[in-house]
Amino acid sequence: MKDKVTIHTLKRFKQIGQKICMVTAYDATFAHILDQSGADVLLVGDSLGMVVQGHDSTLPVTMDQMVYHCAAVTRGARRAHVVGDMPFMSYQVSPQEAVRNAGRLVSEGGAGSVKLEGGAEFADTVRAIVRASIPVMGHLGLTPQSVHKMGGYVVQGRDEDQARRILDDALALEQAGAYALVLEGVPLELARTITQSLTIPTIGIGAGRYCDGQVLVCYDLLGMNPDFKPKFVKRYANMHGSITEAAGAFFAEVRQGAFPDEDHSFKSSKNLRLAASSTQVPDVAPPAEGEEKLGPVYGAPV
Ligand code: KIV
Repeated sequence: MKDKVTIHTLKRFKQIGQKICMVTAYDATFAHILDQSGADVLLVGDSLGMVVQGHDSTLPVTMDQMVYHCAAVTRGARRAHVVGDMPFMSYQVSPQEAVRNAGRLVSEGGAGSVKLEGGAEFADTVRAIVRASIPVMGHLGLTPQSVHKMGGYVVQGRDEDQARRILDDALALEQAGAYALVLEGVPLELARTITQSLTIPTIGIGAGRYCDGQVLVCYDLLGMNPDFKPKFVKRYANMHGSITEAAGAFFAEVRQGAFPDEDHSFKSSKNLRLAASSTQVPDVAPPAEGEEKLGPVYGAPV
């Protein structure tokens, strides 16, 4: 196994100019595939509220749900650093509550660090979590948990005042001990200025090419939803098409009686006469050694 990625690896990547590759994951199967594909960081994002749970925002996601998904992802990941997102209202009330909830993502969910949205107003909270030895990733710009305050999912920092505020927030988070920063939905010029002003890495989503790394929601990059195509998303696959085709082929074979065929059916090992039935099961050769073994549990890392 390649060395596990840590927050120190990520800082070093910035120093040597190696781009950080981060992607969201919500379960062990995806975590395993994405980890093997070369992800440096797997973010168990509260975006799961939208892409997994079907809500129209991230606001309904709970701590228990985040812990559950974090634990699944950490079981699937080997090399990648796993970041657990702190859901809405898990850190806003008080630094004490924030520390307790961040602790759950680490101790119960197995995350290596946590992420929270917000700027200088959360500097004390970041400090408190870091003091508890839990690394914190910040998140600035378009912060989905503030959708009502922002008046929608709109690009942030386009004008001078907003841009200055976001830059100040970035500096405050670094000062408070954040080890990295997600920049979401900001102009690329602002992302470049912030990236050049910080010693900690920036990871962009809709923030242009100058960030130290990039993150996308895995369902978006895989093309799971043909109806969701914001400007910042590039689809690297058409999984919606592939899944539709594969599932359609399965349904067609079931309807035709073509599946399951002999190759996908089990045979009894003895001349079996069923007591409750007059039907005699035809003689069959006993299975060869190992022939009838079931495959691995679906999705379990092998
Ligand atoms: O929840 C999430 O997936 C995120 C990323 C979009 C950065 O916060």
